[in-house]
Amino acid sequence: MGTRTIEEDGWRLRKAASLVKLLALAPSHRLHRERVMDLLWPELGLKAASNNLRQALHVARRTLNPDPARASRHLVLPEEQLALGPEEHLWVDVDAFEEAAATARRGREPAAYRVALDLYAGELLPGDLYEEWAEGRRQELRQAFLSLLVELASIHEERGDFRPAVEVLRRAVAEEPTHEEAHVGLMRLYTLSERRGEALSQYERLREALSGKLGAEPDAATRRLREEIATGRLPSAQPPTVGPLPQEAGKHNLPATRSSFVGREREMVEVRRELAMTRLLTLTGTGGCGKTRLTLEVARELVGAYPDGVWLVELAPLSERALVPQALAAALGVQEQPERSLTDTLVDFLRKKKALLVLDNCEHLVDAVARLTDILLNSCPHLRVLATSRETLDVEGELNWLVPSLSVPRLRRPPTVGELEGYESVRLFVERAQYRNPAFSLTPENAQAVAKICKRLDGIPLAIELAAARVGFSVEQIATRLDDSLRLLTAGSRTASPRQRTLRGALDWSYDLLSKPERVLFARLSVFAGGWTLEAAEAVGSGKGIEEEDVLDLVSRLVDKSLVVVGTTAGGVVRYSATLTYKDNNGATIGNPVILTATTQCIVVG
Ligand SMILES: Nc1ncnc2c1ncn2[C@@H]1O[C@H](COP(=O)(O)OP(=O)(O)OP(=O)(O)O)[C@@H](O)[C@H]1O
Ligand SMILES: [Mg+2]
Repeated sequence: MGTRTIEEDGWRLRKAASLVKLLALAPSHRLHRERVMDLLWPELGLKAASNNLRQALHVARRTLNPDPARASRHLVLPEEQLALGPEEHLWVDVDAFEEAAATARRGREPAAYRVALDLYAGELLPGDLYEEWAEGRRQELRQAFLSLLVELASIHEERGDFRPAVEVLRRAVAEEPTHEEAHVGLMRLYTLSERRGEALSQYERLREALSGKLGAEPDAATRRLREEIATGRLPSAQPPTVGPLPQEAGKHNLPATRSSFVGREREMVEVRRELAMTRLLTLTGTGGCGKTRLTLEVARELVGAYPDGVWLVELAPLSERALVPQALAAALGVQEQPERSLTDTLVDFLRKKKALLVLDNCEHLVDAVARLTDILLNSCPHLRVLATSRETLDVEGELNWLVPSLSVPRLRRPPTVGELEGYESVRLFVERAQYRNPAFSLTPENAQAVAKICKRLDGIPLAIELAAARVGFSVEQIATRLDDSLRLLTAGSRTASPRQRTLRGALDWSYDLLSKPERVLFARLSVFAGGWTLEAAEAVGSGKGIEEEDVLDLVSRLVDKSLVVVGTTAGGVVRYSATLTYKDNNGATIGNPVILTATTQCIVVG
């Protein structure tokens, strides 16, 4: 109920909960009163059942909304019927799953199948296992889930993509060990991939499952297939007729990835699920916690699920609210029209589109983004928006999802290398360190120091990347210096949250380690809010101690130290931007005060 969750034991009357569940599962969320009484009190006479229903209704309404004036709007009684409402604010996961399944079947795109599969939350109402009214739907949904898996596998197989096909069918078999079609699919796929032994073992697994659970044996056709595999009559290693299709066949403007992505498997599933539940999902969290990266990875996976594309609007470089619609228009390729507001033109363009907009880094323009998003969502019924922001947009219907840090080791005893590799923050540190120094590896000697760094940095990916960029030092040195820098910060009277202090500590520390010319150039470059080209860097960065021809080398060193990232625009122009943000949500400055002083000087000088 809004932000309130009603737990299983929050209903004073079990039948009150059953009533709500029953209506949630009913077509159009309504049922005739008599049908409800038949289902919930089959053993009672009309009068007793009617009394019970009245009582259950009363308790259900009050549980859904303790305010008596508003309680009745959730369960209404139109003409001898009972209905759950208000319809426009109701979201039922079962409906979302069935809708997503139908969409997937129409489009036959793996990404759309994955969206639907994510929405299957496991067995329906496991707390109501012995309720007859739930049983039929439970089986129906489970069968739908299994069929989706089998269909997805066959789409992968048609495309010659055997590995994901095998993974999907294994999931089906794990869920339902007697699912013959899934076993047969696996036997065929293993044979095609020259894994005949596994194909034959798969048959044995099917035989055992069928005889153990159902007292049955495999079909004649399955037995024949086994014979063909055993005698080598089913040809193996057929070259796929169609090569694997590129993963991203759909329309989008997402940038190619430039660095490896670590962990976040569970978060990716959760974000996809949440997005299926709402038309506006905002990923929030402190600076550098990985909002943008997680969003981009999810968006990439969803490309095939949106027939009209997935469009990224990068808002970080914008300094003025008025530019928000323009940035969206540029992403969508929409031209401004004379005598019309750009917002109206965008609404017209998107009105019938089934598209996903990814609004990245909204925090500094939150009002303008909220206003535009509200208008678009009101006028374009098939549009969805995935936003990242340090604060919520506060638009009606918005769902927020707080991005957690990467997992960090606990340090009660010295960790082993194997244990540490299980933590995302450690894997990120090692991968980025190896990028700078390919000889770097996690060893029993450095394990503790690496664990300490990741823990001290709270698993914040940006902070970890900054620290890993320093593997020129030994990890023990990094751990000690970082410790000093953070202790200094914690001891001071800063008002920032511990997370911000941590990140700030990492930034301060990284900055302190720059050489003087690197520092001067970095400060001069921070006049460019939206990034810069090499030519611009040379123009603004040179002078007073820095030669024009040294700028490229210095910028490259800042890139090496993770303070600057390189990217390429759609037109192929190389652009740089700083990884640090200088303003917080309220316009107050965060980041390194030294940088800011230097920036101010630079603006005066420059
Ligand atoms: N799971 C991950 N695997 C690898 N790198 C990651 C991961 N998460 C984040 N990063 C990297 O960490 C850095 C910071 O992440 P990101 O830009 O997503 O943070 P953010 O929360 O969007 O920050 P901001 O609040 O400044 O917008 C980036 O370089 C990003 O590529
Ligand atoms: Mg971001």
